[in-house]
Amino acid sequence: MKEKKLTTENYKGTRDFFPADMKIRNYLFSVMKKVVRSYGYEEYDGPMIESLDLYRAKTGEEIVGKQIYNFIDKGGREVAIRPEMTPTVARMVASKLRDLPRPIRWFSIPNLWRYEQPGHGRLREHWQLNVDLFGVTHHYAELEILSLACDILFAFGASRDSFRVKVSHRALLDEFFKEGLALRSDQSHEVSKILDKKNKITNEEYISLVNKTIPENPGAVEKINQFLISKISDLSNIPGLKQETISTLTDLFKDLESIGLGDMVDFDPSVVRGFDYYTGFIFEIFDTSPANKRSLYGGGRYDNLIGLFSNDELSGTGFGLGDVTLLNFLQTHNLLPSLSNENTVFIPLLDSAHFLLCQSMATKLRNAGIAVDLSLTSQKMGKQLSYAEKKGYRWILLQGEEEIAKKTVSLKDMLNRTQEESSFENALEKISIELTK
Ligand code: HAM
Repeated sequence: MKEKKLTTENYKGTRDFFPADMKIRNYLFSVMKKVVRSYGYEEYDGPMIESLDLYRAKTGEEIVGKQIYNFIDKGGREVAIRPEMTPTVARMVASKLRDLPRPIRWFSIPNLWRYEQPGHGRLREHWQLNVDLFGVTHHYAELEILSLACDILFAFGASRDSFRVKVSHRALLDEFFKEGLALRSDQSHEVSKILDKKNKITNEEYISLVNKTIPENPGAVEKINQFLISKISDLSNIPGLKQETISTLTDLFKDLESIGLGDMVDFDPSVVRGFDYYTGFIFEIFDTSPANKRSLYGGGRYDNLIGLFSNDELSGTGFGLGDVTLLNFLQTHNLLPSLSNENTVFIPLLDSAHFLLCQSMATKLRNAGIAVDLSLTSQKMGKQLSYAEKKGYRWILLQGEEEIAKKTVSLKDMLNRTQEESSFENALEKISIELTK
């Protein structure tokens, strides 16, 4: 009987990163890292598995109730694969709170797991750049975090009209629900969850959910809808809002204008953010192309997370930028550069008797910092050239019978379609000069 073979398919909602995909991933990460480092952020990492309690505390029902990958470990502990990084960074910061010079500027690019229905912009495993700033209560923290977020997209070549930053404040919703609509806190919580998923459900479903949650408040849907489309200048007419909250928002927008981001940022009270830890400004960044509806970034200020671990308080502000939505954005706007193997030199082997000679040239090139693909099997030139072409190599360094006799090499430049014979040293110098161009 024939043995049944295993499937080569990867687990639903995950990606295999073949070398071509890895090149893209490394490119995304290298641009992200360059920009965040230019703002003085330092890289950290944490474990992929944490205690489930860490997420139960404040990650929010949608993730903890439905999407988390949790299990009991062999020691009987309830653990989870990280669905987000914020609780981990808060735990790590809290564990060294007294030793860390403030403000604390940290970043990480973890892979995160959520049991989602995979679709455009949504997978079960994604990588997420997390940038967090701790210890600054002034909205200068928001100015830095938002301009850093924009700078990352600019560094990828994005234009000013290709994305929009949408900002709101947690207090707005809280005050409007509590004072404006006279909701109990459990009802406020339920209604914010409905608003958080408003874009994912039909209008009829939305209305029916709100009416079911607050049946004693029949005019609520209309008032909420009015609130959701309000501009900053309308806020004084929204019932329940405190003047202090309105000023907090107007002050931030004034400063965003002053630092040159005014044209990129909208006040948008429909930004809700489904996490329980946010306490201040909240924001999301969206692609302006209708092809990509999911947010590129999500973030905000959280004042109480460190308090889960310590009696000290420390305010944090930060965001997560997902690699799936970012890649969709870059592809939609034609911003992905071609990432080739161009810089690798190929040394073909035409006669196995010459292997050691070729090997010694490879060593000299590698010692000079040049990547080399050295052929290990002697084959006809045509076959080796077609391999080099498929791999996208620009340089082919050849030493056949003739060159050996003359103590020269031939250097083929596949980009400019030229071939030159010279000493090995001259060929090395030429490649080095071209690589630094
Ligand atoms: P989040 O809004 O859940 O926030 O995720 C941030 C970004 O990660 C989203 O805008 C999206 O680009 C990406 N993302 C999230 N889930 C998925 C998924 N299933 N598939 C693909 N991409 C996804 C947080 O996680 C917060 N902890 C961010 C944060 C950091 N807040 C403060 N600091």
